[in-house]
Parts: sequence; C-alpha cells; structure tokens
Amino acid sequence: MTDDVVPTPAPAASPVEELLARLTLEERASLLGGSDFWHTTPVERAGVPAVMVTDGPHGLRKQAQGTDHLGLDASVPATCFPPAAGLASSWDTDLLRRVGEALGRETRAERVAVLLGPGVNMKRSPLCGRNFEYFSEDPVLAGDLAAALVQGVQSQGVGTSLKHFAANNQETQRMTVSADVDERTLREVYLTAFERVVRTAQPWTVMCSYNRINGVHASEDPWLLTRVLREEWGFEGLVVSDWGAVNVREDGVRAGLDLEMPSSGGSGTRRILDAVAAGTLSAADVERSARRVLELLAKAAPALAEPGTVDVRAHHALAREAARASAVLLRNEPVGQGADAAPLLPLAPAGGAVAVIGEFARTPRYQGAGSSQVNPTRLDDALSALREAFAGSREVVFAAGYDPDVEDLDPALAEEAVAAAARAEVAVLFLGLPPRYESEGYDREHMDLPAAQVELLHRVAAANGRVVVVLSNGSAVTVEPWQQRVPALLETWLLGQAGGGAVADLLTGAANPSGRLAETVPVRHEDNPTVGNFPGEHGHVRYGEGLLIGYRWYDAHALPVAYPFGHGLSYTTFAHSDLRVHPHGQGARVSVTVTNTGDVAGTETVQVYVHDPESSAYRPEQELKGFARLTLAPGESGTATLELDRRAFASWHTAAGRWVVEGGEFEVRVGASSRDVRQRASITLEGDDVVLPLTGDSDAEAWLRHPVAGPLVREALGEGQWRDMLADPQHGQMMRAIPLVRLTRFPGFPIGEDDLPTWEAKAAQA
Ligand code: BGC
Repeated sequence: MTDDVVPTPAPAASPVEELLARLTLEERASLLGGSDFWHTTPVERAGVPAVMVTDGPHGLRKQAQGTDHLGLDASVPATCFPPAAGLASSWDTDLLRRVGEALGRETRAERVAVLLGPGVNMKRSPLCGRNFEYFSEDPVLAGDLAAALVQGVQSQGVGTSLKHFAANNQETQRMTVSADVDERTLREVYLTAFERVVRTAQPWTVMCSYNRINGVHASEDPWLLTRVLREEWGFEGLVVSDWGAVNVREDGVRAGLDLEMPSSGGSGTRRILDAVAAGTLSAADVERSARRVLELLAKAAPALAEPGTVDVRAHHALAREAARASAVLLRNEPVGQGADAAPLLPLAPAGGAVAVIGEFARTPRYQGAGSSQVNPTRLDDALSALREAFAGSREVVFAAGYDPDVEDLDPALAEEAVAAAARAEVAVLFLGLPPRYESEGYDREHMDLPAAQVELLHRVAAANGRVVVVLSNGSAVTVEPWQQRVPALLETWLLGQAGGGAVADLLTGAANPSGRLAETVPVRHEDNPTVGNFPGEHGHVRYGEGLLIGYRWYDAHALPVAYPFGHGLSYTTFAHSDLRVHPHGQGARVSVTVTNTGDVAGTETVQVYVHDPESSAYRPEQELKGFARLTLAPGESGTATLELDRRAFASWHTAAGRWVVEGGEFEVRVGASSRDVRQRASITLEGDDVVLPLTGDSDAEAWLRHPVAGPLVREALGEGQWRDMLADPQHGQMMRAIPLVRLTRFPGFPIGEDDLPTWEAKAAQA
C-alpha cells in the first residue's frame, strides 16, 4: 500500500451487532426466553444484562416478591389511572399522551424496561370479561388513543407492549379458542387499531395473543407476526408472547415470535437448539430474534441507568383530571315545575340534604381484576369527596344500600337507604358491577346490574324523585327500563384511584362532564351482533357479524339503542356550523365550527363519520374516521380542522389483497354522536384501479372490463346478436355473469375456447 492511498475504513459495527457477533448460538437461543416471570435472560459472560418487563397498563404492577401474572400477588404502590374503558371515553389524545408520560416516569423510576400494555382489542361483545382494559368498539378511536399513550410512555425512555395481537376478544377459552374471522373483517376491524399504533408510535414490543386465528396460533402465525406486522406495517420492535402463549417454540421463532415469556425453564431454548440441529429452524432466524432482544436492551439502557423520581402528588392530580374526563353524563332531565324546571345536575352548592347511597360511594370499584390490578398510592372515595365539597353548606347522609358481595337484596340496608332518600332533597345512588362480575380470565354471563341493586333503585326512586345514578362498571350494562325512573345518570366506568374526587367534581359542577361513549349501550343484550356467536363452541368462535361490530350493527339493522356510540352530555350546549370538506392530498380536509351556546365553559367532541353511498362491496352505513375536541367559553366559537387520509375512504379488497378506494362520491358526516349527525357534505374522489387477473372463472363482465382483454373480446364478438345481448344494460346482466369460458361452449358463440389462454396471458402481462 502506498502512502497516498487512504484505506476506506470498514463501517463500525453497531454495539448491538458487535455484541451479537460475540454470542454463541446457545447464548442467542437463551436470549429468546425469560429467566423468570418478569425478566429477560442475561448472558453474563458477554455482559448482556437482564431487564424487567411488567404489567400495566393503567399503572405499574411491579411485583415485589411474589410472582404470578394473574394479579394475585401484591405489587409496589403505583398511581392507578383509569383503565382504558374510562380513558377511552375522554376521546382526548393529549390527555392520553400525558397519562402515558406519567406511566413512563413510574415505569422508569422502578427500573422496568417495558410496561405491558396498552391492549387495543375491540369490544366485540359487552360480555368480554376484560373489556375494562380495552378502549372501544371502534378501531380508529382505539388506535389513535392508544398511539398517544404509547408515545407518552416511550417519551420517557421505556417501552410498551401493544397487546393482545390479535383477535383476542373474549376470555372464555382464551388460550385455545380459534377466532374464525374473514380477512376483510380482520383488516377493517380487528387489526386496524394495532396498525394505527404501529405505524404512528412504533411500540417497542407487540405481545401476541393466546388464541388461534382461523385455526393458527397467534404465537406461530407468520402471516400475522411477520408479513402483516413487519412487512406491511413496518414494525421495528420485538414480538413477545403473552404469558404462556407459546405452543411449539421453534414454529414461533420461525413465524416471528422473538421472546417467550415467562421462562419456560429452559424447554423453549432446548427446542430451538434441537430444531436448528435438525435443520428445521435456521440459525439466521435465531440470530434475527436475538438481535431484536439486544436492540430492546440497548434502547432501555439509558433510562434504566438514570431512573429518576416520581412526583406522586402530581400523578394523583393527573389521575383525577383523567377520571373527570373519563366519565360520561348519559342523562340529565329537568326536574321541578314550570319556570323552575332545570336539569337535576349539577347539584347546587347549597341546599337541602344530599343522600349518598350505595357501598360503591364508600368502597369504590376503580379498576378490574387480573394482571392489570395496580396497588394504588392512594384511594379516594366519592362519599368523602362529596362531604368535603358540601362541608358547611349541605348535609350529606350516607346509607350503604347493598353489600356488593351479596346477591340478594338486604331488607335492612334497603330500608335504611329509602329512609335516607326520603328525608333528603336529592339522592345520589352509586350502583355498578360487583368485582366478581368482570375479570380477566372469564366473561360475564349477562349485561345486567345485580337484580338487588335494581330493586333498591326502584325503592329509592319511589321515596325521592330526584335521583342521580352513578354507575361503576368496566363494560356496558343495560340501563333499560330502570333508567326511566331517574332524571340523571352518570356512567363512570372504572375511574382509577382518584375517581372519588372526580365524581364529586362532576356532580357539583366544579368540572363539566365531557366524556363520550366509546361503546354503544344497547337496549338489550339480545340486540348485540355477537348473540349466537359468543363465546363460541367446540374451540371455535365465529365472527359471524363480520364488519358489523358495535354501532355498525345497530345502524345496519336500524335498531334503537339506549345510548349511541359517541354520546355524552355536558352542562352546556353546542351548535355546529359551517362544515367544509375539500380534497386534500389523497384524501380530504374537514373543518367545522362549534359554538358554546350555554352558560358555562365546556368541551365538545366533534366526530367525523364517512358514508359511502354507492359501492360494489358492502360498506357499513358510516364509520368513524376522525375526531377533535374543542374547549370553549360561553358564547365562544372555535373551528376544528381534521385531515382524512385516503385510507379513511378505502375498504379491504379481498380479491386484490389491498386497500382500495372506489372512485365516486362519499358523504362526510359530522356530529356529536353516531346518532346525532348535525351536518353532511359530499366529496368526490378518484378511485384506485383494480385489475384482477383473469381466470377460468372470470365472468364475461370481468373480461369485458379488463383494459387489455376487453378490446380483444369485443373485437372477436364482432357485430351481431351475441354482442347486442351482452351489451344490453338490463338483460345482458344475466349473460355477463356467465364465465366467458362457458359462453364459448354455447352453440354459435363467436369466440372459441382456444382463444382464451392467449388473451389471458396478454392480460397478465399488462
Ligand atoms: C395477560 C397479559 C399480561 C400477562 C403478564 C397475561 O395473562 O393476558 O395481558 O400482560 O399475563 O401478566
């Protein structure tokens, strides 16, 4: 080498690549499983540390000593934010981001690398025992809220685990059941929320679910874990199994399942190594997954080295803000006579006695049972908060009314409650689902409140007409017909550790309700689309309702609902005006003006639905494609502007295997709920070309429409009766529906069967 030639330096290998290069096959395989319930496996010889991952997702559940993944053993204190069922009702991405940041700070402070959540499975049936951990029946709402939460957590240098991928929509037989669902439904409903989060927030990990999809275990499905997740959506992180979801370990590695959790006691590693030795699994697949584990460790290292501290009081205050935003005021009817008639809520600061009835006012139900169960830093109850709010101005009397652990009405407790209601000016009745009714691991048997609580309500309402019902439940409950007995109804879901104070804020008007339903409340469970197909039988659950989940079903069948998706009242009113919809990029820009027409400040959530008036494929009547919140002072107006991308107008074309916009007119509907559409505007979009390959089954219509084959067929038809018959708009329909190859066999048809293969080949080349 002469002096004047400068050698090109070899590109420096990244620290991960250097580390990977130093690991033996055995060490790489060992990285692909946990070392215990919550830690990855270290390789001490090479300086590879172990990191901890733990539940979540609405707070940190870091177990101090005991180890189980079912929420049984105690965990370190952590802020318990409202579970997803509550947070989702805020429709507030900014709030979700801030809650995510707080969760991230707590995760980091406890030196945990990954918080195991959020869960974005769709609420297919209200009976799913784990609905409290999920966001919505709508994939756009669930996806956008979860993406904001993931961004918040990950901004703190720790990761998330988007779960349970995919089609884990029930708890019955969750580890084995096969969700039998067609691809279009999967794409448009059950995968969309995952896709939105992956594309916009890149969660560090995705957790594959326990169940099977169309017979294939999610934990060993290459279509799901590699083709869709990585190749189509661009996922860059690591796939971890749900705890115990691995079926055949080597098949999982091949499919793209990187990390098995918890530890399999070495059996997973042995199987991987045996499969490599036998030539049924490639060492490259092991290397690829080991690289992903090392990348995860590298990403977490800086934060784990500097865990930081948590401001517990500030997080409690944020939990209260989140709880306020999570409650939905379903009903607020006027009480009183003539000019004095006014909605029952908010309760006036001064006045007669307030009877607070129901054990849940004193002993709140604030989260669900199972792996997400957090040990809160503090727990507020509504009874104490109401006493504080009315201290010195209104007497507050309490009666427990029921024991949530007892199914039958307790006559003594009921009598005491009725007496309290009778001598009060207003009764606030806390009802809800007892903890045993809903949990991870099993589904609910019905949608109703305990019969004893409903009976208590009737007795209380008979004693005092001014009743506010405050509901605590992780998933929708039926409210008909009993709600007719009460003027006001506040759905609080499960509100986390600060829910008690938040409920007092909302009842007294210190805060104005702004939550909107993220799930429909049907009149009866029998109206729900999954009836007959939930929770399945003989190891299979058929998603027979297809695309028609939630409001899509109630709209399609024109069914009355108790409260529609998107519904929620406020102590003020809003007017919508000036909807504008313009083409923008590949999609549309939507703007709408909202005016606060009442007396107090409040927040409106503008909901944008797309309706496709004409389509060759079935489309749901309308689908949520965007939403925006506007907080306005009395008399103030504001404009919400939203962008709808092309996907907002597309549907999954099963034959073409891609998203397709059919050209033509679309209607953009804007309103305050799925059943309260206030404005509509049309937009015309260019369609995507779909040219399907011609096959033996292609009908004459497909041939005639094909850009290459069509002219050839027309020319060969020449002039005459066959051409005229095929061209006739009405009668020709029957003829055009016949596969061309069969027409060629009809007597006198001017095209021979032998012509078709050449044309097919020409068409395929186009
Ligand atoms: C749950 C997951 C959870 C894991 C670890 C599983 O049973 O399905 O959501 O993250 O346990 O506790």
